Order: sequence, then C-alpha cells, then structure tokens
Amino acid sequence: MKNSSRRGFMGKAFGAVAGVGAVASLYAMKRSWDPLPSVKAAGFTTLDMSAYKENELVTEKWRGKPIFVLKQTADMVKKAQANPKDMERLIKIGNDYFMVCVGLCTHLGCIPGYNPDEQSFLCACHGGMYDFTAEVTKAPPPRGLDIPPFKIDGMKLVLGEEGPEYKKMLESGTTLKV
Ligand code: FES
Repeated sequence: MKNSSRRGFMGKAFGAVAGVGAVASLYAMKRSWDPLPSVKAAGFTTLDMSAYKENELVTEKWRGKPIFVLKQTADMVKKAQANPKDMERLIKIGNDYFMVCVGLCTHLGCIPGYNPDEQSFLCACHGGMYDFTAEVTKAPPPRGLDIPPFKIDGMKLVLGEEGPEYKKMLESGTTLKV
C-alpha cells in the first residue's frame, strides 16, 4: 500500500518533470524559429548627427546597405540654395545640413567614391557623377542617389522610420522609396 502510493507519487513527479522539460524544449525550439530581437531592431539605425565633420564622407550601414552621410559646409549650403532641387535633398538638423543617401549608384549599383576637393562623387564603373547633394550630374545614372526613410529626433536621425520630412521628399519626387 505504502509502496504503491510512493510509486504513484514518483510516477507523477517524474511525469511533471518530463512535462516541464518538454515545454522547455518546445519553448527553446520556438525561440530558435523566431527572429532574434537584435535582428528586428536592425531595421533601424540611429545616427548621432553631432558626430560628423563638414565635407568628410562617412559610410554608415542600414539594413545591409551602405549609407553615405556628408555634413555640408556653409559654402555647399550656399551653392545648394541656388538650386531648390539640390536644397530639397538636404536634411536640416539643428543648424546644420546633411546629405544622407544610400551609397549605391542608381545605374547598376556600384559604390561611388567621394572626392572632397571636387565635392563630388564619381562612380568608377561607368563614369557616372553626382554632386555634394548626391544629385546626378553625369549619366548614365538615371537619378540622384536614393535617400533612405528617416525620422529626425532632436540631434539624431533614425533610419528606417518615415518622418514628415522624408514623406515630403517622396511626395515631391526628390527620392524614390528604397
Ligand atoms: S554603376 Fe555607376 S555608372 Fe554604372
């Protein structure tokens, strides 16, 4: 009597432990199927815009793409102001203006190089050129470099979020959706 109830208790206890183990392993399996939180978060890249220097191209990364960031000099802004189309491509953060774009040529996707002396980009693949606002100045690229979705958050720029300034660029045809 005593023994059988003990066996019964042991049996139940073992079953309970096995059950917990099964749930734990199912949970572990499910976790390995779900994307990791860091991968989900990788859809967004936050840039601290106070860290950039004028006329110094920095290549950041967003969703596996190279992102060019070029803080404009006062002289560049002056030149851009002469052409409203150029000005529309710039992002104003605080008192500064930035060119932020996907660093892939709109012709066939090579990565253009920046020449700070000329303040222009050259795509070595087929000789396409862009100015300091990444607007195309020499074919074959069909348009300026594309601007990634962005949202201004104080002195930060969140890539991957569509803020009002980015939506305005889409509406005016300043950039295509990336
Ligand atoms: S890929 Fe850049 S000019 Fe052709």
